[in-house]
Amino acid sequence: MKLLVFAGSTRTASWNRKLATATANLARASGAEVTHLELGDFDVPMYNADLESRGTPADVMRLKEITAAHPAWIICTPEYNASYPALLKNTLDWISSPVKGDPLWSDEFRSTRGKVVGVLSASPGSLGGLRSQSHLVPLLFNLQCWVAPKTFALARAADAFDAGGALASEAARNAVQAVVEQVITAARRLNPD
Ligand code: FNR
Repeated sequence: MKLLVFAGSTRTASWNRKLATATANLARASGAEVTHLELGDFDVPMYNADLESRGTPADVMRLKEITAAHPAWIICTPEYNASYPALLKNTLDWISSPVKGDPLWSDEFRSTRGKVVGVLSASPGSLGGLRSQSHLVPLLFNLQCWVAPKTFALARAADAFDAGGALASEAARNAVQAVVEQVITAARRLNPD
């Protein structure tokens, strides 16, 4: 199963990137073929329909291809003002915006339809970014994703990783593993070939 993992932060010391790395490692150990995507590697401007009318940016097309090629995703979202960050909204808006006249990409949901998505969050705070998830999930439904019922919010993220970057607590590892397994199981059932 091809699993895409990405964090909604480009910050160098991002807790959500650390969580994405730990998640990718757990998923690989479970046999998944994991792509850990760094959104900072893509040159994606703030969405603007005038700009888009002059041509969808090349890195947006790359993102569309990559997301489309992965039946299973896990998103690690930061929490900004009790919601998810603009980076995630902008990325998901771009990949779900149709490329007019293109035989494949005029289908707005080609990158997102039917994806099984696990939602994780991490925050230095005591709620672990939980409130960001309740905003992100309806957006994913709108993109025609299947959102895994199991989720996990990593609280007190500054104390949650060991020196090697792994999740320090067994409870946190088990919670992430449970999301990974649910996402992979559901994606296999929805994509039997
Ligand atoms: C935050 N942060 C934050 N944290 C939280 O738990 N709940 C919140 O509502 C907010 N709001 C918020 C707004 C803004 C504008 C910023 C910049 C930050 C703190 C946030 O969780 C913290 O910066 C994390 O470290 C961001 O995630 P990464 O970059 O570490 O993955």
